[in-house]
Amino acid sequence: MTRRLEDRYGRVATDLRVSLTDRCNLRCSYCMPAEGLDWLPDDSVLTDDEVVRLVRVGVDLLGIREVRFTGGEPLVRRGLVDIVRRTHELGVETSLTTNALGLARTASALAEAGLDRVNVSLDSIRPESFLAITRRDRLHDVLAGLEAARAAGLGPVKVNAVLMRGINDREAPELLRWALAEGYQLRFIEQMPLDAQHGWSREGMITAEEIFATLESEFTLTPVEEPRGSAPAELFHVDGGPGTVGVIASVTRPFCGDCDRVRLTADGQVRNCLFAREESDLRSALRDGATDDEIADRWIVAMRGKRAGHGIDDPSFLQPDRPMSAIGG
Ligand code: GTP
Ligand code: 5AD
Ligand code: SF4
Repeated sequence: MTRRLEDRYGRVATDLRVSLTDRCNLRCSYCMPAEGLDWLPDDSVLTDDEVVRLVRVGVDLLGIREVRFTGGEPLVRRGLVDIVRRTHELGVETSLTTNALGLARTASALAEAGLDRVNVSLDSIRPESFLAITRRDRLHDVLAGLEAARAAGLGPVKVNAVLMRGINDREAPELLRWALAEGYQLRFIEQMPLDAQHGWSREGMITAEEIFATLESEFTLTPVEEPRGSAPAELFHVDGGPGTVGVIASVTRPFCGDCDRVRLTADGQVRNCLFAREESDLRSALRDGATDDEIADRWIVAMRGKRAGHGIDDPSFLQPDRPMSAIGG
């Protein structure tokens, strides 16, 4: 009988997010410092076979139905196409969250391997803002990657944008006009306290309320009627539709009560929440010769510690040690 990844609050995780590397070829200032970070040592990173084995345990024994690959930047992982193929063969939906650098070269191979969808992180379509945020002059490659994803049928392609005060916050309407014209579903994201530099502040964060105010000065937004389920984004039709825009208000309108996610880091640790303070070490279990059932049992136990919410508003809130780039968003 299939067991379930259920927590103490009755939430069941069916959506697995797998970080394939903590490395990245951009240096987004809300994520990591210009010099990069101390990357995970190679021997601590799961091999392709180990990743696929843990995903298989999740799918075959624990009710996982969707697998999203993240990073750092998952396209820098050499075995990505093969990992996608082997995951697809398990019969689950597969997706990727990427900065799209290099996607122009790999989109069709990923689609052939069975990848269903991609979400692309892009905060500006102005070269100077893109450079200011990511510290790399690569906007052109990202746009080419997006086009390749669309051409390969990896859609509907979503674009994730984090707005930063004084840098790209005024660009929200132009970004939306562009996304609507290109047929990408744009989603604005509230910045969460997960940056490696611990530089996040509530005042610095552009809130969903501010995003709505900026957009509504130029567009009419009407809530999409379909139930949202566990999706992080609230969706709105723009000017009567059919185009939509999403807002992911993780901080000011948390959706933790409907969470159906669990995360696996590149070094094989289960995180029951983005903001978890504890992890469960599946890599050691695996390398010590645990059976699939033993790994599944350990994973189930890891879910019991999942807290009701991220607690960003609690006076006792502590940012997790592991930064966003090593969790995978
Ligand atoms: P879809 O299945 O396409 O809706 O993917 P997604 O939006 O869940 O994934 P994506 O990787 O594109 O993430 C978009 C934003 O939502 C990122 O900023 C993520 O960090 C954030 N996000 C994803 N999952 C969670 C979560 O469980 N909790 C919180 N607070 N934020 C999340
Ligand atoms: N808060 C919210 N979203 C973030 N992302 C990266 N850092 C943060 C943060 N601190 C976004 C990226 C990417 C997704 C996985 O998470 O833009 O689209
Ligand atoms: Fe790389 Fe994503 Fe972090 Fe930007 S936000 S530096 S693309 S991991």
